[in-house]
Amino acid sequence: MCGITGYIGYRDAYPIIINGLQRLEYRGYDSAGVVLYDGKQINLSKTKGKVSDLLNKFDAEDAKKGNVGIGHTRWATHGVPNDVNSHPHTSQSGDLVIVHNGIIENYDTIKKELINRGYTFHSDTDTEVLINLIEEVKKNNNVKLGKAVQIALNEVVGAFAIAVFDIEKPDEIVVAKLGSPIAIGIGKDNTEFFIASDASPFLEYTKDAIYLEDEEMAIIKVGRAIEIRKINDDSVVTANVQELQMNLEQIEKGGYDHFMLKEIHEQPRAITDTFRGRLLKDEAIIKMAGIEDNMKRFLNAERILIVACGTSWHAGLVAEYIFEEFARIPVEVEYASEFRYRNPIITEKDIVIAISQSGETADTLAAIKMAKSKGAFVFGVCNVVGSSISRESDAGAYTHAGPEIGVASTKAFTTQITVLTLIALRLARAKGTMSSSDFRMYLHEMELIPNKVEKLLEIDSKVEEIARKYLLSTNFLYLGRGFNFPVALEGALKLKEISYIHAEGYPAAEMKHGPIALIDDRMPVVVIATNKGHYDKVVSNIQEIKSRQGKIIAIVTEGDTVVKEIADHVIEIPDTEEALTPLLTTIPLQLLSYYIAVMRDCNVDQPRNLAKSVTVE
Ligand code: AGP
Ligand code: GLU
Repeated sequence: MCGITGYIGYRDAYPIIINGLQRLEYRGYDSAGVVLYDGKQINLSKTKGKVSDLLNKFDAEDAKKGNVGIGHTRWATHGVPNDVNSHPHTSQSGDLVIVHNGIIENYDTIKKELINRGYTFHSDTDTEVLINLIEEVKKNNNVKLGKAVQIALNEVVGAFAIAVFDIEKPDEIVVAKLGSPIAIGIGKDNTEFFIASDASPFLEYTKDAIYLEDEEMAIIKVGRAIEIRKINDDSVVTANVQELQMNLEQIEKGGYDHFMLKEIHEQPRAITDTFRGRLLKDEAIIKMAGIEDNMKRFLNAERILIVACGTSWHAGLVAEYIFEEFARIPVEVEYASEFRYRNPIITEKDIVIAISQSGETADTLAAIKMAKSKGAFVFGVCNVVGSSISRESDAGAYTHAGPEIGVASTKAFTTQITVLTLIALRLARAKGTMSSSDFRMYLHEMELIPNKVEKLLEIDSKVEEIARKYLLSTNFLYLGRGFNFPVALEGALKLKEISYIHAEGYPAAEMKHGPIALIDDRMPVVVIATNKGHYDKVVSNIQEIKSRQGKIIAIVTEGDTVVKEIADHVIEIPDTEEALTPLLTTIPLQLLSYYIAVMRDCNVDQPRNLAKSVTVE
């Protein structure tokens, strides 16, 4: 996720683009850049850091001149945040410039081919490959920019929202979209156009906008109506001009009331982006550079130690079940805050996996430094490219969730589980602990997860109705078994941290060892009772609670007829393989905590006493 913006018209482009990038910084903020065309030359400035750091790069007033330009605020996926990897990127000739939001999956194949054709690269990004592919196509086919972009994008696999500028055609900007958003603001009588990842950069100038659909591109030229075409077959698309009704704040939150709800609803895209280019179902392979490059070490590992905090620790617990089930490798999950101060026995045969959304959690960073000092190999699973934990790790794999603004972690959790499941499947295949048919089945099921999450998110109103019944509760219990025990812990944490209601998660079978004493008619109990694993035993647990007047909110598999006869409320989730159910069962628990917190007038995105990244002890 990142922010792209652009302008072409009669005004000075610089203030519009800079202001637009500041509006889009919530979408990505590890580096920023702008290119302007002043009628004679291209002036490009870019830097690691925030848009405010970029302002200092424009030392000469002349560098701010021009009525056309494009800008970018980055959330890196390929290449750490630094000046060179920042956007815009220019082609080898220097004539073409691009800003890009998304991931080019097959960039390494294209890069190798371009290098064979004499191209050199300065950055580690997939984006620089794309702009040089466009240049190569333009040269070889002797076509204009628009056609070159179209031909090049038909060779690309991945997600993109791009704006491209050609110094030879300075009166136009070419945009194209697949998987990442592009909004185009239309000035009066087509005298100016605004390009952006969402409408926030141009809302003050115009409320007339077009949102490109997937597989669409447009050549934007002042003085004429926008011409939209399909990328694959060049067919003309009728532009659907909308009059925007949202205000700035609503646009930043994607029309949702809070970043947390937006990020809950982003999970289908975030999970897709996380397995994009890694889960290759048709080839029946999983490809993760950090694993491939260290496969021998993983195959010889005698133990995997997972260190993390909070929600990331819960993702680690899910991974424990998945790794041991699939790859038959012993796994221990440690609170980083405890691990760092113990004197654990660690050997070179240990692999430590550090899980952290921010990549800056002090306890986790300290834990891996200690582990490395004892000879462990550290593999990082982070959401922020170039973060401290990712840099301290010996290897790693990023979740491509995009910036997570809400303090309560949601899309980070499901994308962490996605990465960890891919790793476990890859190792299972390499170790021969999973048959090829099972492996293919899991690849197929994983690919179906985003759509199942999408379908599951339609239960909003049902969860809201349940939340209303229990918003005055003072305690909650969350129960799960097997793969869903960690999800019960995560559900309890979500409720605690944003609604301030005390909640505890337990393995369902633990109730009889004490917690059942808590049950009375004021105790809501959320039970994950999918039709997998020890379903019958969970049903018994539910009956034990009901017989003591507990209130049951059950998460069940679609079509369940047994639990619905016992529970007070039932939320159905689509069926999937047992090991993949955490990716689905967590969704209603995220929504339940969100709606209860909203109804209790809590500050959902910035709960009291909490920080998004705990960079201190
Ligand atoms: C989860 O909702 C909380 N925000 C918190 O527990 C968080 O998961 C924990 O602080 C770890 O953060 P990290 O993933 O950035 O390391
Ligand atoms: N994949 C591109 C990069 O890593 C774009 C990332 C983004 O969307 O900001 O530079």
